[in-house]
Amino acid sequence: MNGKKIRYAIVGFGGIAENRLAKEGFACDRKRFRPLPGVELVGATDIRISRQDAVERLKLKWYESPEAVFADRTIDAVFIASDNSTHFLLSKKALAAGKHVIVEKPMATSLAGARKLAALAAEKNLALAVDHMMVHNTLNRKARELVARGDLGEVNDLCLHMEFFYGSTPEEASSWRCADPAQLGGPIGDVGSHCLYMAEFLTGSIIKTIAAVFTPRTLNIRAENGAFIRFRTENGLSGSARVSFNDPRGSLESTLLNLGFEIYGTKKTLRAYGTLFQLSGHPDEPVKLRLDVEGSGAAETLSPDYVENIYQKVILDHAASICAKKRPTGEDGVHNLRLVLAAYKSAASGGREIQLK
Ligand SMILES: NC(=O)c1ccc[n+]([C@@H]2O[C@H](COP(=O)([O-])OP(=O)(O)OC[C@H]3O[C@@H](n4cnc5c(N)ncnc54)[C@H](O)[C@@H]3O)[C@@H](O)[C@H]2O)c1
Repeated sequence: MNGKKIRYAIVGFGGIAENRLAKEGFACDRKRFRPLPGVELVGATDIRISRQDAVERLKLKWYESPEAVFADRTIDAVFIASDNSTHFLLSKKALAAGKHVIVEKPMATSLAGARKLAALAAEKNLALAVDHMMVHNTLNRKARELVARGDLGEVNDLCLHMEFFYGSTPEEASSWRCADPAQLGGPIGDVGSHCLYMAEFLTGSIIKTIAAVFTPRTLNIRAENGAFIRFRTENGLSGSARVSFNDPRGSLESTLLNLGFEIYGTKKTLRAYGTLFQLSGHPDEPVKLRLDVEGSGAAETLSPDYVENIYQKVILDHAASICAKKRPTGEDGVHNLRLVLAAYKSAASGGREIQLK
């Protein structure tokens, strides 16, 4: 793109798009963030016309439809942040129109759909990335470094958890996350997806087997209420993830701090607080993220050495990849969806272990 800014538009302007992608990722909140180098967010669209105000409040152009975005020749790339069931078709149309794409997880609701998107991106040499933003949290990177360096001793177990309380009101229960299991919006697809790529990131090894069971239902929603997922990685590590929509955890602060993981080594145990969420570690966030490392000596608490906004890093990496020779084709998203679908399949069969090829 030779020094020209990469011009983005957002398709699907709901909660995540407004609060995390536009305000933080594209730095529209100028009180908190400086403009991103080489990147410009031009506008956004949503099927709900009521979202026009929110778009225009951020001084962005309102597009009448996704098609209007795809037809705009001045737009280089789109960020798809709509309901899960629309990711495939919208990403396909965007790629077909020659746009580079970042798509929210899961990149599609079927493996066939995800593979088609990856193939289309490769065929058209367009950068297709999936928003696996938690790998950019600096404390998660620190945890991975401690594991890789052997600081915890030999790691033999890890446990990740993303437990929420969502779906108890009629409004939440009728939302796409809770009301339509085909959207993969229940806890396995919604947050299990994050836990699974983070398990691979932290251990530096891919998941080869998965077994899962649904946890007891207390919410009257069509999606699963929660799941316990066991996995084994290629390098022989075993671990688990707990995901749910029916675990109130005291206050908002305690719920957020509980979103994290434990990594158990023969010398030390590492506990991460609040790092499996949408937070980057900025001082003005509602909780202070931290890692606690304890062994036979005194416990040590690690705070971020520096903070990089996790959504900005996804966008900057995508923009940089557009200028690079080798562009991502979303294969990590295909792999992640394969794991998510395996977890659903195992849970539906009562916990049968599934081998991933
Ligand atoms: N990476 C993260 O941090 C993170 C966090 C939450 C949600 N998500 C993902 O982001 C996506 C959106 O989640 P959300 O919580 O913002 O949901 P949401 O319901 O608040 O927003 C979705 C928006 O998409 C719009 N939409 C639906 N179909 C559309 C279409 N065909 N064209 C244009 N707009 C359309 C809806 O009207 C709605 O405004 C989901 O895929 C979810 O999994 C990611």
